[in-house]
Amino acid sequence: MSLVLGVESSCDETSAAIVRNGREILSHVILSQDIHEVYGGVVPELASREHVKTIIPVIEEALQEADVTARDLDAVGATSAPGLVGALAVGFSAARSFAWAAGLPLVPVHHLEGHLFSVRLAWPDVPFSFVALIVSGGHTELVEVAREGSYTIVGETRDDAAGEAYDKVAKMAGLPYPGGPHVDRLAASGDGSRYPFRQARLEKGSLDFSFSGIKTAVRYTIRDHPGVLDEEELPHLLAGFQESVVSALRDRARDALRLSGLDRVALVGGVAANRALRAAFEAMAAEEGATLLVPPPVLCTDNAAMIASAAAARLAAGDTIDSESHGVASDRPLPSY
Ligand code: KG4
Ligand code: ZN
Repeated sequence: MSLVLGVESSCDETSAAIVRNGREILSHVILSQDIHEVYGGVVPELASREHVKTIIPVIEEALQEADVTARDLDAVGATSAPGLVGALAVGFSAARSFAWAAGLPLVPVHHLEGHLFSVRLAWPDVPFSFVALIVSGGHTELVEVAREGSYTIVGETRDDAAGEAYDKVAKMAGLPYPGGPHVDRLAASGDGSRYPFRQARLEKGSLDFSFSGIKTAVRYTIRDHPGVLDEEELPHLLAGFQESVVSALRDRARDALRLSGLDRVALVGGVAANRALRAAFEAMAAEEGATLLVPPPVLCTDNAAMIASAAAARLAAGDTIDSESHGVASDRPLPSY
């Protein structure tokens, strides 16, 4: 039995959650900062300031909603890396102070490990072994999960994250930030074959991704085709872009699945909300005879419940404190334990 307070503040969500046994969410508070919208992207300093304002009330609300006090808890888990350093520092320091004052162990959690545990929360009884594609505004990683604490990154982006590519293309098309959901909506009525974009070519056998080339190709298409941003034409352009990105993600995930010999594939992170991506993964998983695991959107975007769940697994494995990782960092490799 464990009761864990999770804290997440790596980007522009301030979140706290109480999770029992790494599986059952007793409370979950998520505050998304909308202050960044007018700037067309997350402004790190503003993100830190917003976290400063909201982190304590968010933690208090999570405790109240779950009707627990610090005395009932077994540990505090908080995202320590990767992310915006200032933003991370706010949530991590709050969690560390809370843990210290309450005499509780503090479990630093790698943000990507947190994303993997959204699968545990959505499917508490499914064995923790699968191939996962983590796709968000900051990450595009293919991870082979052998068990809790055993992770191998088998593929990753060499430049932009998939969500970042969506957001940049959306910006070129004059759509609001974050642009991913707008591209999703508009591309649904477009014909991608009108503006075909090739997948990036990497060495044979590589499971990596590259999205900067297609972004540039979209920019040139806009420059060379007056009228492509018109209301009727734009959905076709966006559909062409989306087909290229989605097929790259699907193909490499399929390769990773085959190489792993596993029969479960998970799709997590904010971009997992994309309908074309989900449909492509559904078809691929069916063809491969694999089970597709896509957690609900609230667990796919940044949230503290997944951090609490990851912390609970570390706690159960006796891996509470890694003194080396007792600070925050913008980047740090995904650790196995
Ligand atoms: O995981 P997340 O909430 O935050 C991090 O980046 O960590 O992911 C946000 C990203 C943004 O790039 C956003 O445009 C993208 O996910 N996104 C989508 C969709 N919904 C969110 N991209 C494509 N289609 C969507 N439906
Ligand atoms: Zn994330």
